[in-house]
Amino acid sequence: MIESEHERQSPASTVFVPAYAKINLTLRVLGRRPDGYHALLSVFQTLSLHDTLRVEPTEDGVVACVTSLPELNTPENLAERAARLLRDRAGQPHLGARIEVEKVIPAQGGLGGGSSDAATTLAALNALWGLGLPEERQETLGAELGSDVPFFTRGGTALITGRGEFVRALPDAEPLWFLLAKPPVAVSTPAVFRALTPTDYAGEGVRDPVAEAIERGDPLPFEALTNTLEEPVLRSYPAVAETRAALLAAGAPLVRMSGSGPTLYAPFRDLGAAVAVRERAVAAGIAVWLTHSVSRSAVAGSRPAGWAGRPTTHPEAR
Ligand code: C5P
Repeated sequence: MIESEHERQSPASTVFVPAYAKINLTLRVLGRRPDGYHALLSVFQTLSLHDTLRVEPTEDGVVACVTSLPELNTPENLAERAARLLRDRAGQPHLGARIEVEKVIPAQGGLGGGSSDAATTLAALNALWGLGLPEERQETLGAELGSDVPFFTRGGTALITGRGEFVRALPDAEPLWFLLAKPPVAVSTPAVFRALTPTDYAGEGVRDPVAEAIERGDPLPFEALTNTLEEPVLRSYPAVAETRAALLAAGAPLVRMSGSGPTLYAPFRDLGAAVAVRERAVAAGIAVWLTHSVSRSAVAGSRPAGWAGRPTTHPEAR
């Protein structure tokens, strides 16, 4: 029998692991909650665009994280906070980790880069430290770090509710290519949510036809992709409206915004069509990434597994 790469590794070995970006195929803001957050109904999809983490477990009780972007190298970095949270909740202060993050996902772009780094750190250290925490528990820990973090525990295609912390796995959506473009502007997520008015709210009980199509195994209904936050951002940030217009002028059949933006995406069934739009967009001075959807099983396969025979050490995992 051929052993897999992960099975051959010793428990304390160092791993490289991708932290995938996401887009929101749909995002409906249902209303404002008493705690100041907003109730959401959203279909999330992981993309092949990813940061790369190098995670080295240690036994010296020190958690250190360095990224390729100096401005992210603070104790507030979500990957570093994730490692500390996991160590503290495991009640094993001797555990430590050296984490390096090559940032590729544009920061503060609506693509969940920091959240994905955090969830991937939890998953990797859960395996490398031999904690054996089930995915549900990793999601709960992730929710303490940020609303988008729990989705990235499993990734793939999922329906998100609550403030983002309730994750229901959907069947994998139709595999698609996506062009991404990040307008040259910083958008504040709290400001975007604050700018909403009650007329923007979809209200409780609304259905998501995209989630329903995915559950039926139908092709993705492009015309039903939607984002409550898109109109307010287009109104307030002319650079986003300009990038959107440039993508449409380059031939993209449909352009939507991801999350609270400002990153825009255009879906394609055909690589040739995506490449043709990319070339025209680049000629017009728009930087674009060509990426594609990533299934939940591909996300699982990219993570270090636990290893046979090692007892789980976390009481909640028993
Ligand atoms: O949870 P997270 O720290 O990622 O959220 C950032 C901010 O975005 C929150 O402080 C809040 O202002 C806003 N937000 C919201 N409703 C959500 C998620 C985020 O109002 N469901």
